[in-house]
Amino acid sequence: MERPQSDFLYNRMGPWPQPNPVLPFTEFPAVVNIPRKELMKYELNIGVRYYTQIFYYLPVALWYGINHAGLAKVSDEEFVDMLCVRSFSKFLTKLKRDQIEKYLPGIDMSRLPEGREYYVNDLWLMSRLKPQEGCYTAATVCLFARSDDHKYGFEFLANFCLPYGEPMEKGTVLYPEDNDAWDLAKYHALLGCANRLVLSTHSFLHFPMDTVNAITKTALPKDNLLQRLLLPHFEFSLELDLGVLTSWESPIKNHWELPYTGLTGDEAGIAQLFVDAYMGMKDRHLTYPPYHFWLAPQVPDTEYGRFQIEYYDCIERFTKKVLSKLTDDDKWYIKKWADYISSWLNTNPHMKEEDKQDIKKRFPTGDEIFEEYSDGFTVLEKVTAKIIWDVTVGHASDHYDYGQMDVHKVPFRLRVPAPQGREVHHYSQKSLRTWVDAYKQRMCWKMFFIPTNVTLLQDMAYDFNGDPELDAYVRDFKKDLHATEKGLKEKGIRDFIPLNQIARSIQY
Ligand SMILES: [Fe+2]
Repeated sequence: MERPQSDFLYNRMGPWPQPNPVLPFTEFPAVVNIPRKELMKYELNIGVRYYTQIFYYLPVALWYGINHAGLAKVSDEEFVDMLCVRSFSKFLTKLKRDQIEKYLPGIDMSRLPEGREYYVNDLWLMSRLKPQEGCYTAATVCLFARSDDHKYGFEFLANFCLPYGEPMEKGTVLYPEDNDAWDLAKYHALLGCANRLVLSTHSFLHFPMDTVNAITKTALPKDNLLQRLLLPHFEFSLELDLGVLTSWESPIKNHWELPYTGLTGDEAGIAQLFVDAYMGMKDRHLTYPPYHFWLAPQVPDTEYGRFQIEYYDCIERFTKKVLSKLTDDDKWYIKKWADYISSWLNTNPHMKEEDKQDIKKRFPTGDEIFEEYSDGFTVLEKVTAKIIWDVTVGHASDHYDYGQMDVHKVPFRLRVPAPQGREVHHYSQKSLRTWVDAYKQRMCWKMFFIPTNVTLLQDMAYDFNGDPELDAYVRDFKKDLHATEKGLKEKGIRDFIPLNQIARSIQY
């Protein structure tokens, strides 16, 4: 099966994963040697956009900041919508009643309704993020009960709040009747949610795919059907992720002299959030488990999760059809591909032993890749659908939904300390955030959060060498994508990102 170098992209000297240059033992592998051709394409399509936005959007963002100092009121209803229905619902963890006191110590259990399902949004990551002078952070844990009357409805019951740097016993459980303290703790929870999405869980969509991206390009021959299927979904991403990870100008380095760095915390503090996401948090493995690859998307039992699964199923139908046409040569190389990837992605030192044995919870090996899976799909069909879902719908919907949240309500910095009791000194809405905080967050929102698409999923084109059957599958896929979007409405599921806004790869 050995084939000449010329059968491979970049003469088989293309990108490959290596230990992460910034955090080699506590973060995802990274890809640092990127072909010049790909770098140029990225600079022309995306890099240039960042530089031009700094100039043309700056006056817009400044004007926004001047007019939006402070924060707008957030009702409980809106808060629940963000944390239990929309993208922040990814952080919900179901708890048994007797587990609640661990996450909300001091809670009055007699207040909790009996016989309900309980969920927490544990924003403990904020206990690790030291704020800069003049800013404040706090760990919060929001407790919800699923409503009896609506499948996706939740009731907000309590919020445990512990200001940064304080011992556990200084934490306070707040309830809806606590008025100003309750509202202030909600802003701290929203700050925690923004950090958890942007600097923690969203990394699961970006960085593992760099390994898959590089190995697909280098280890599979150019005529391999799997490479032809995946290649368009991998454009721009290696360059983007490397920039985020290593560039001095990266927003996650948070150099305050730059106009778009609106985060709280210094470079090391922010890096710790990524490490905690990858390694998991000791003593809180239920809410912060160590990262491992999942064969299928892991989504919450919420409307946002249902939305993801509808699209994943659509993609899975497509991968099943395309991959039915693999040749023996394709398969031989795909086994090697799976072995290479699994040797890089299943290496988290904190991964539990039982998870290492479970094919659902890691990247499959070459020996497993063509096994039948229990629901009528092969392991390869599932993992390929997972990859395409990850870099398209999974990734873009996080950006789109978060981008739709009001910058005037979901902060990146707070200037009023979190409650240290159920009563707080009165604070004005204006004092919650400065106009500079608002303008920088708006810049960051424009440049990095809202989707700025170069190529779209709905316009997919694959180089299948003119194979009429495969080209027909692509046409069917596009129709199925539109039918899926239409079907969401019929099933009463919110359209968290319009199909015409879903990029075909990770482009932001
Ligand atoms: Fe992203």
